[in-house]
Amino acid sequence: MDFEIHPWTPEHNCTEFNSSLKSVEKYIQEQAARAMSSKMSTIFVLTEKGDQLVRGYYTLSSMSLNFEELPTALQKKLPRYPQVGATLLGRLGVDERYRDQLSKKGDNPRLGELLLVDAQKNCLRGSATVASAIMLIDVEEPNSEELASGARDPMRFYTQYGFIPLPRTPRTLFKRLSTIEKELTALHKRNTVSVEVKDQMPPLA
Ligand SMILES: CC(C)(COP(=O)(O)OP(=O)(O)OC[C@H]1O[C@@H](n2cnc3c(N)ncnc32)[C@H](O)[C@@H]1OP(=O)(O)O)[C@@H](O)C(=O)NCCC(=O)NCCS
Repeated sequence: MDFEIHPWTPEHNCTEFNSSLKSVEKYIQEQAARAMSSKMSTIFVLTEKGDQLVRGYYTLSSMSLNFEELPTALQKKLPRYPQVGATLLGRLGVDERYRDQLSKKGDNPRLGELLLVDAQKNCLRGSATVASAIMLIDVEEPNSEELASGARDPMRFYTQYGFIPLPRTPRTLFKRLSTIEKELTALHKRNTVSVEVKDQMPPLA
C-alpha cells in the first residue's frame, strides 16, 4: 500500500477517522478548517495514494520556550537567549479502525512512524527559513474512560524515537533540531542501500 502526506485541504474527508483519544478524533473532524485558516497550526494528513480519506494526521505550529525549561546539560551547549525558538507537534494520530483492518490482513504500515518521521522532516525544512532549535511534542494522556476502552498512553511511542521529557513538564517531550538533522541524514544514506527501510520511511527529499 502506498501512502502520501500532504497539507490538509477542505477536500480531505475526515468523517471516518477513528481514534481511541476523542480529542484527536474531534480535532481533525471539527477544528481542522479553523486551525488552518487562522494559521494557528499547519495540519498534514496521511492518505492512501490518490485518495482523500484521512488515515492519519499531525499538526505543527511555532512557539518559544523559556531557556530555563531546558535541561541544564543542554543549556550549557546553547547561546543564552531568554527564549528558544521551537516547533510544536501539537497532535498526531492514526485512524485506528483502519490500522486494525490493515493489520488483520497482515499489513503493518507503521502509520504513526511515517507521520512522526514526516513531522521531523517538516520541522527541519521550516527551520531552514525561520530558525527553530527544538522540536516539542505535547503528549496527550488518555483519560480513565479512554484507558478502560483500550487506549494506550502514547508516551513510549515518542520516547522510542529519541524524544526526551522536559524536566519541569515531563509530558512535553523535546528533541534538538540538530539531532533530527543528523538522524534524517543517516536515514537518507541508509535508504539508498536498504529496500526494507526505504519501504518504511520516506527518504529525506
Ligand atoms: C500513537 C499512534 C500514533 C501510533 O501509531 P501506530 O500506527 O499505531 O504505530 P506504529 O505502527 O507506527 O508503531 C511504531 C512503534 O511504536 C509502537 N507503539 C505504537 N503505539 C504505541 C504506544 N501507544 N505506546 C508504546 N508504543 C507504541 C509500536 O508497537 C511500534 O513499535 P515496534 O517498533 O517495537 O514494533 C497511534 O496508536 C494513535 O493514533 N493513538 C491514538 C492517538 C494518540 O495517542 N496520539 C498521540 C497523542 S499526542
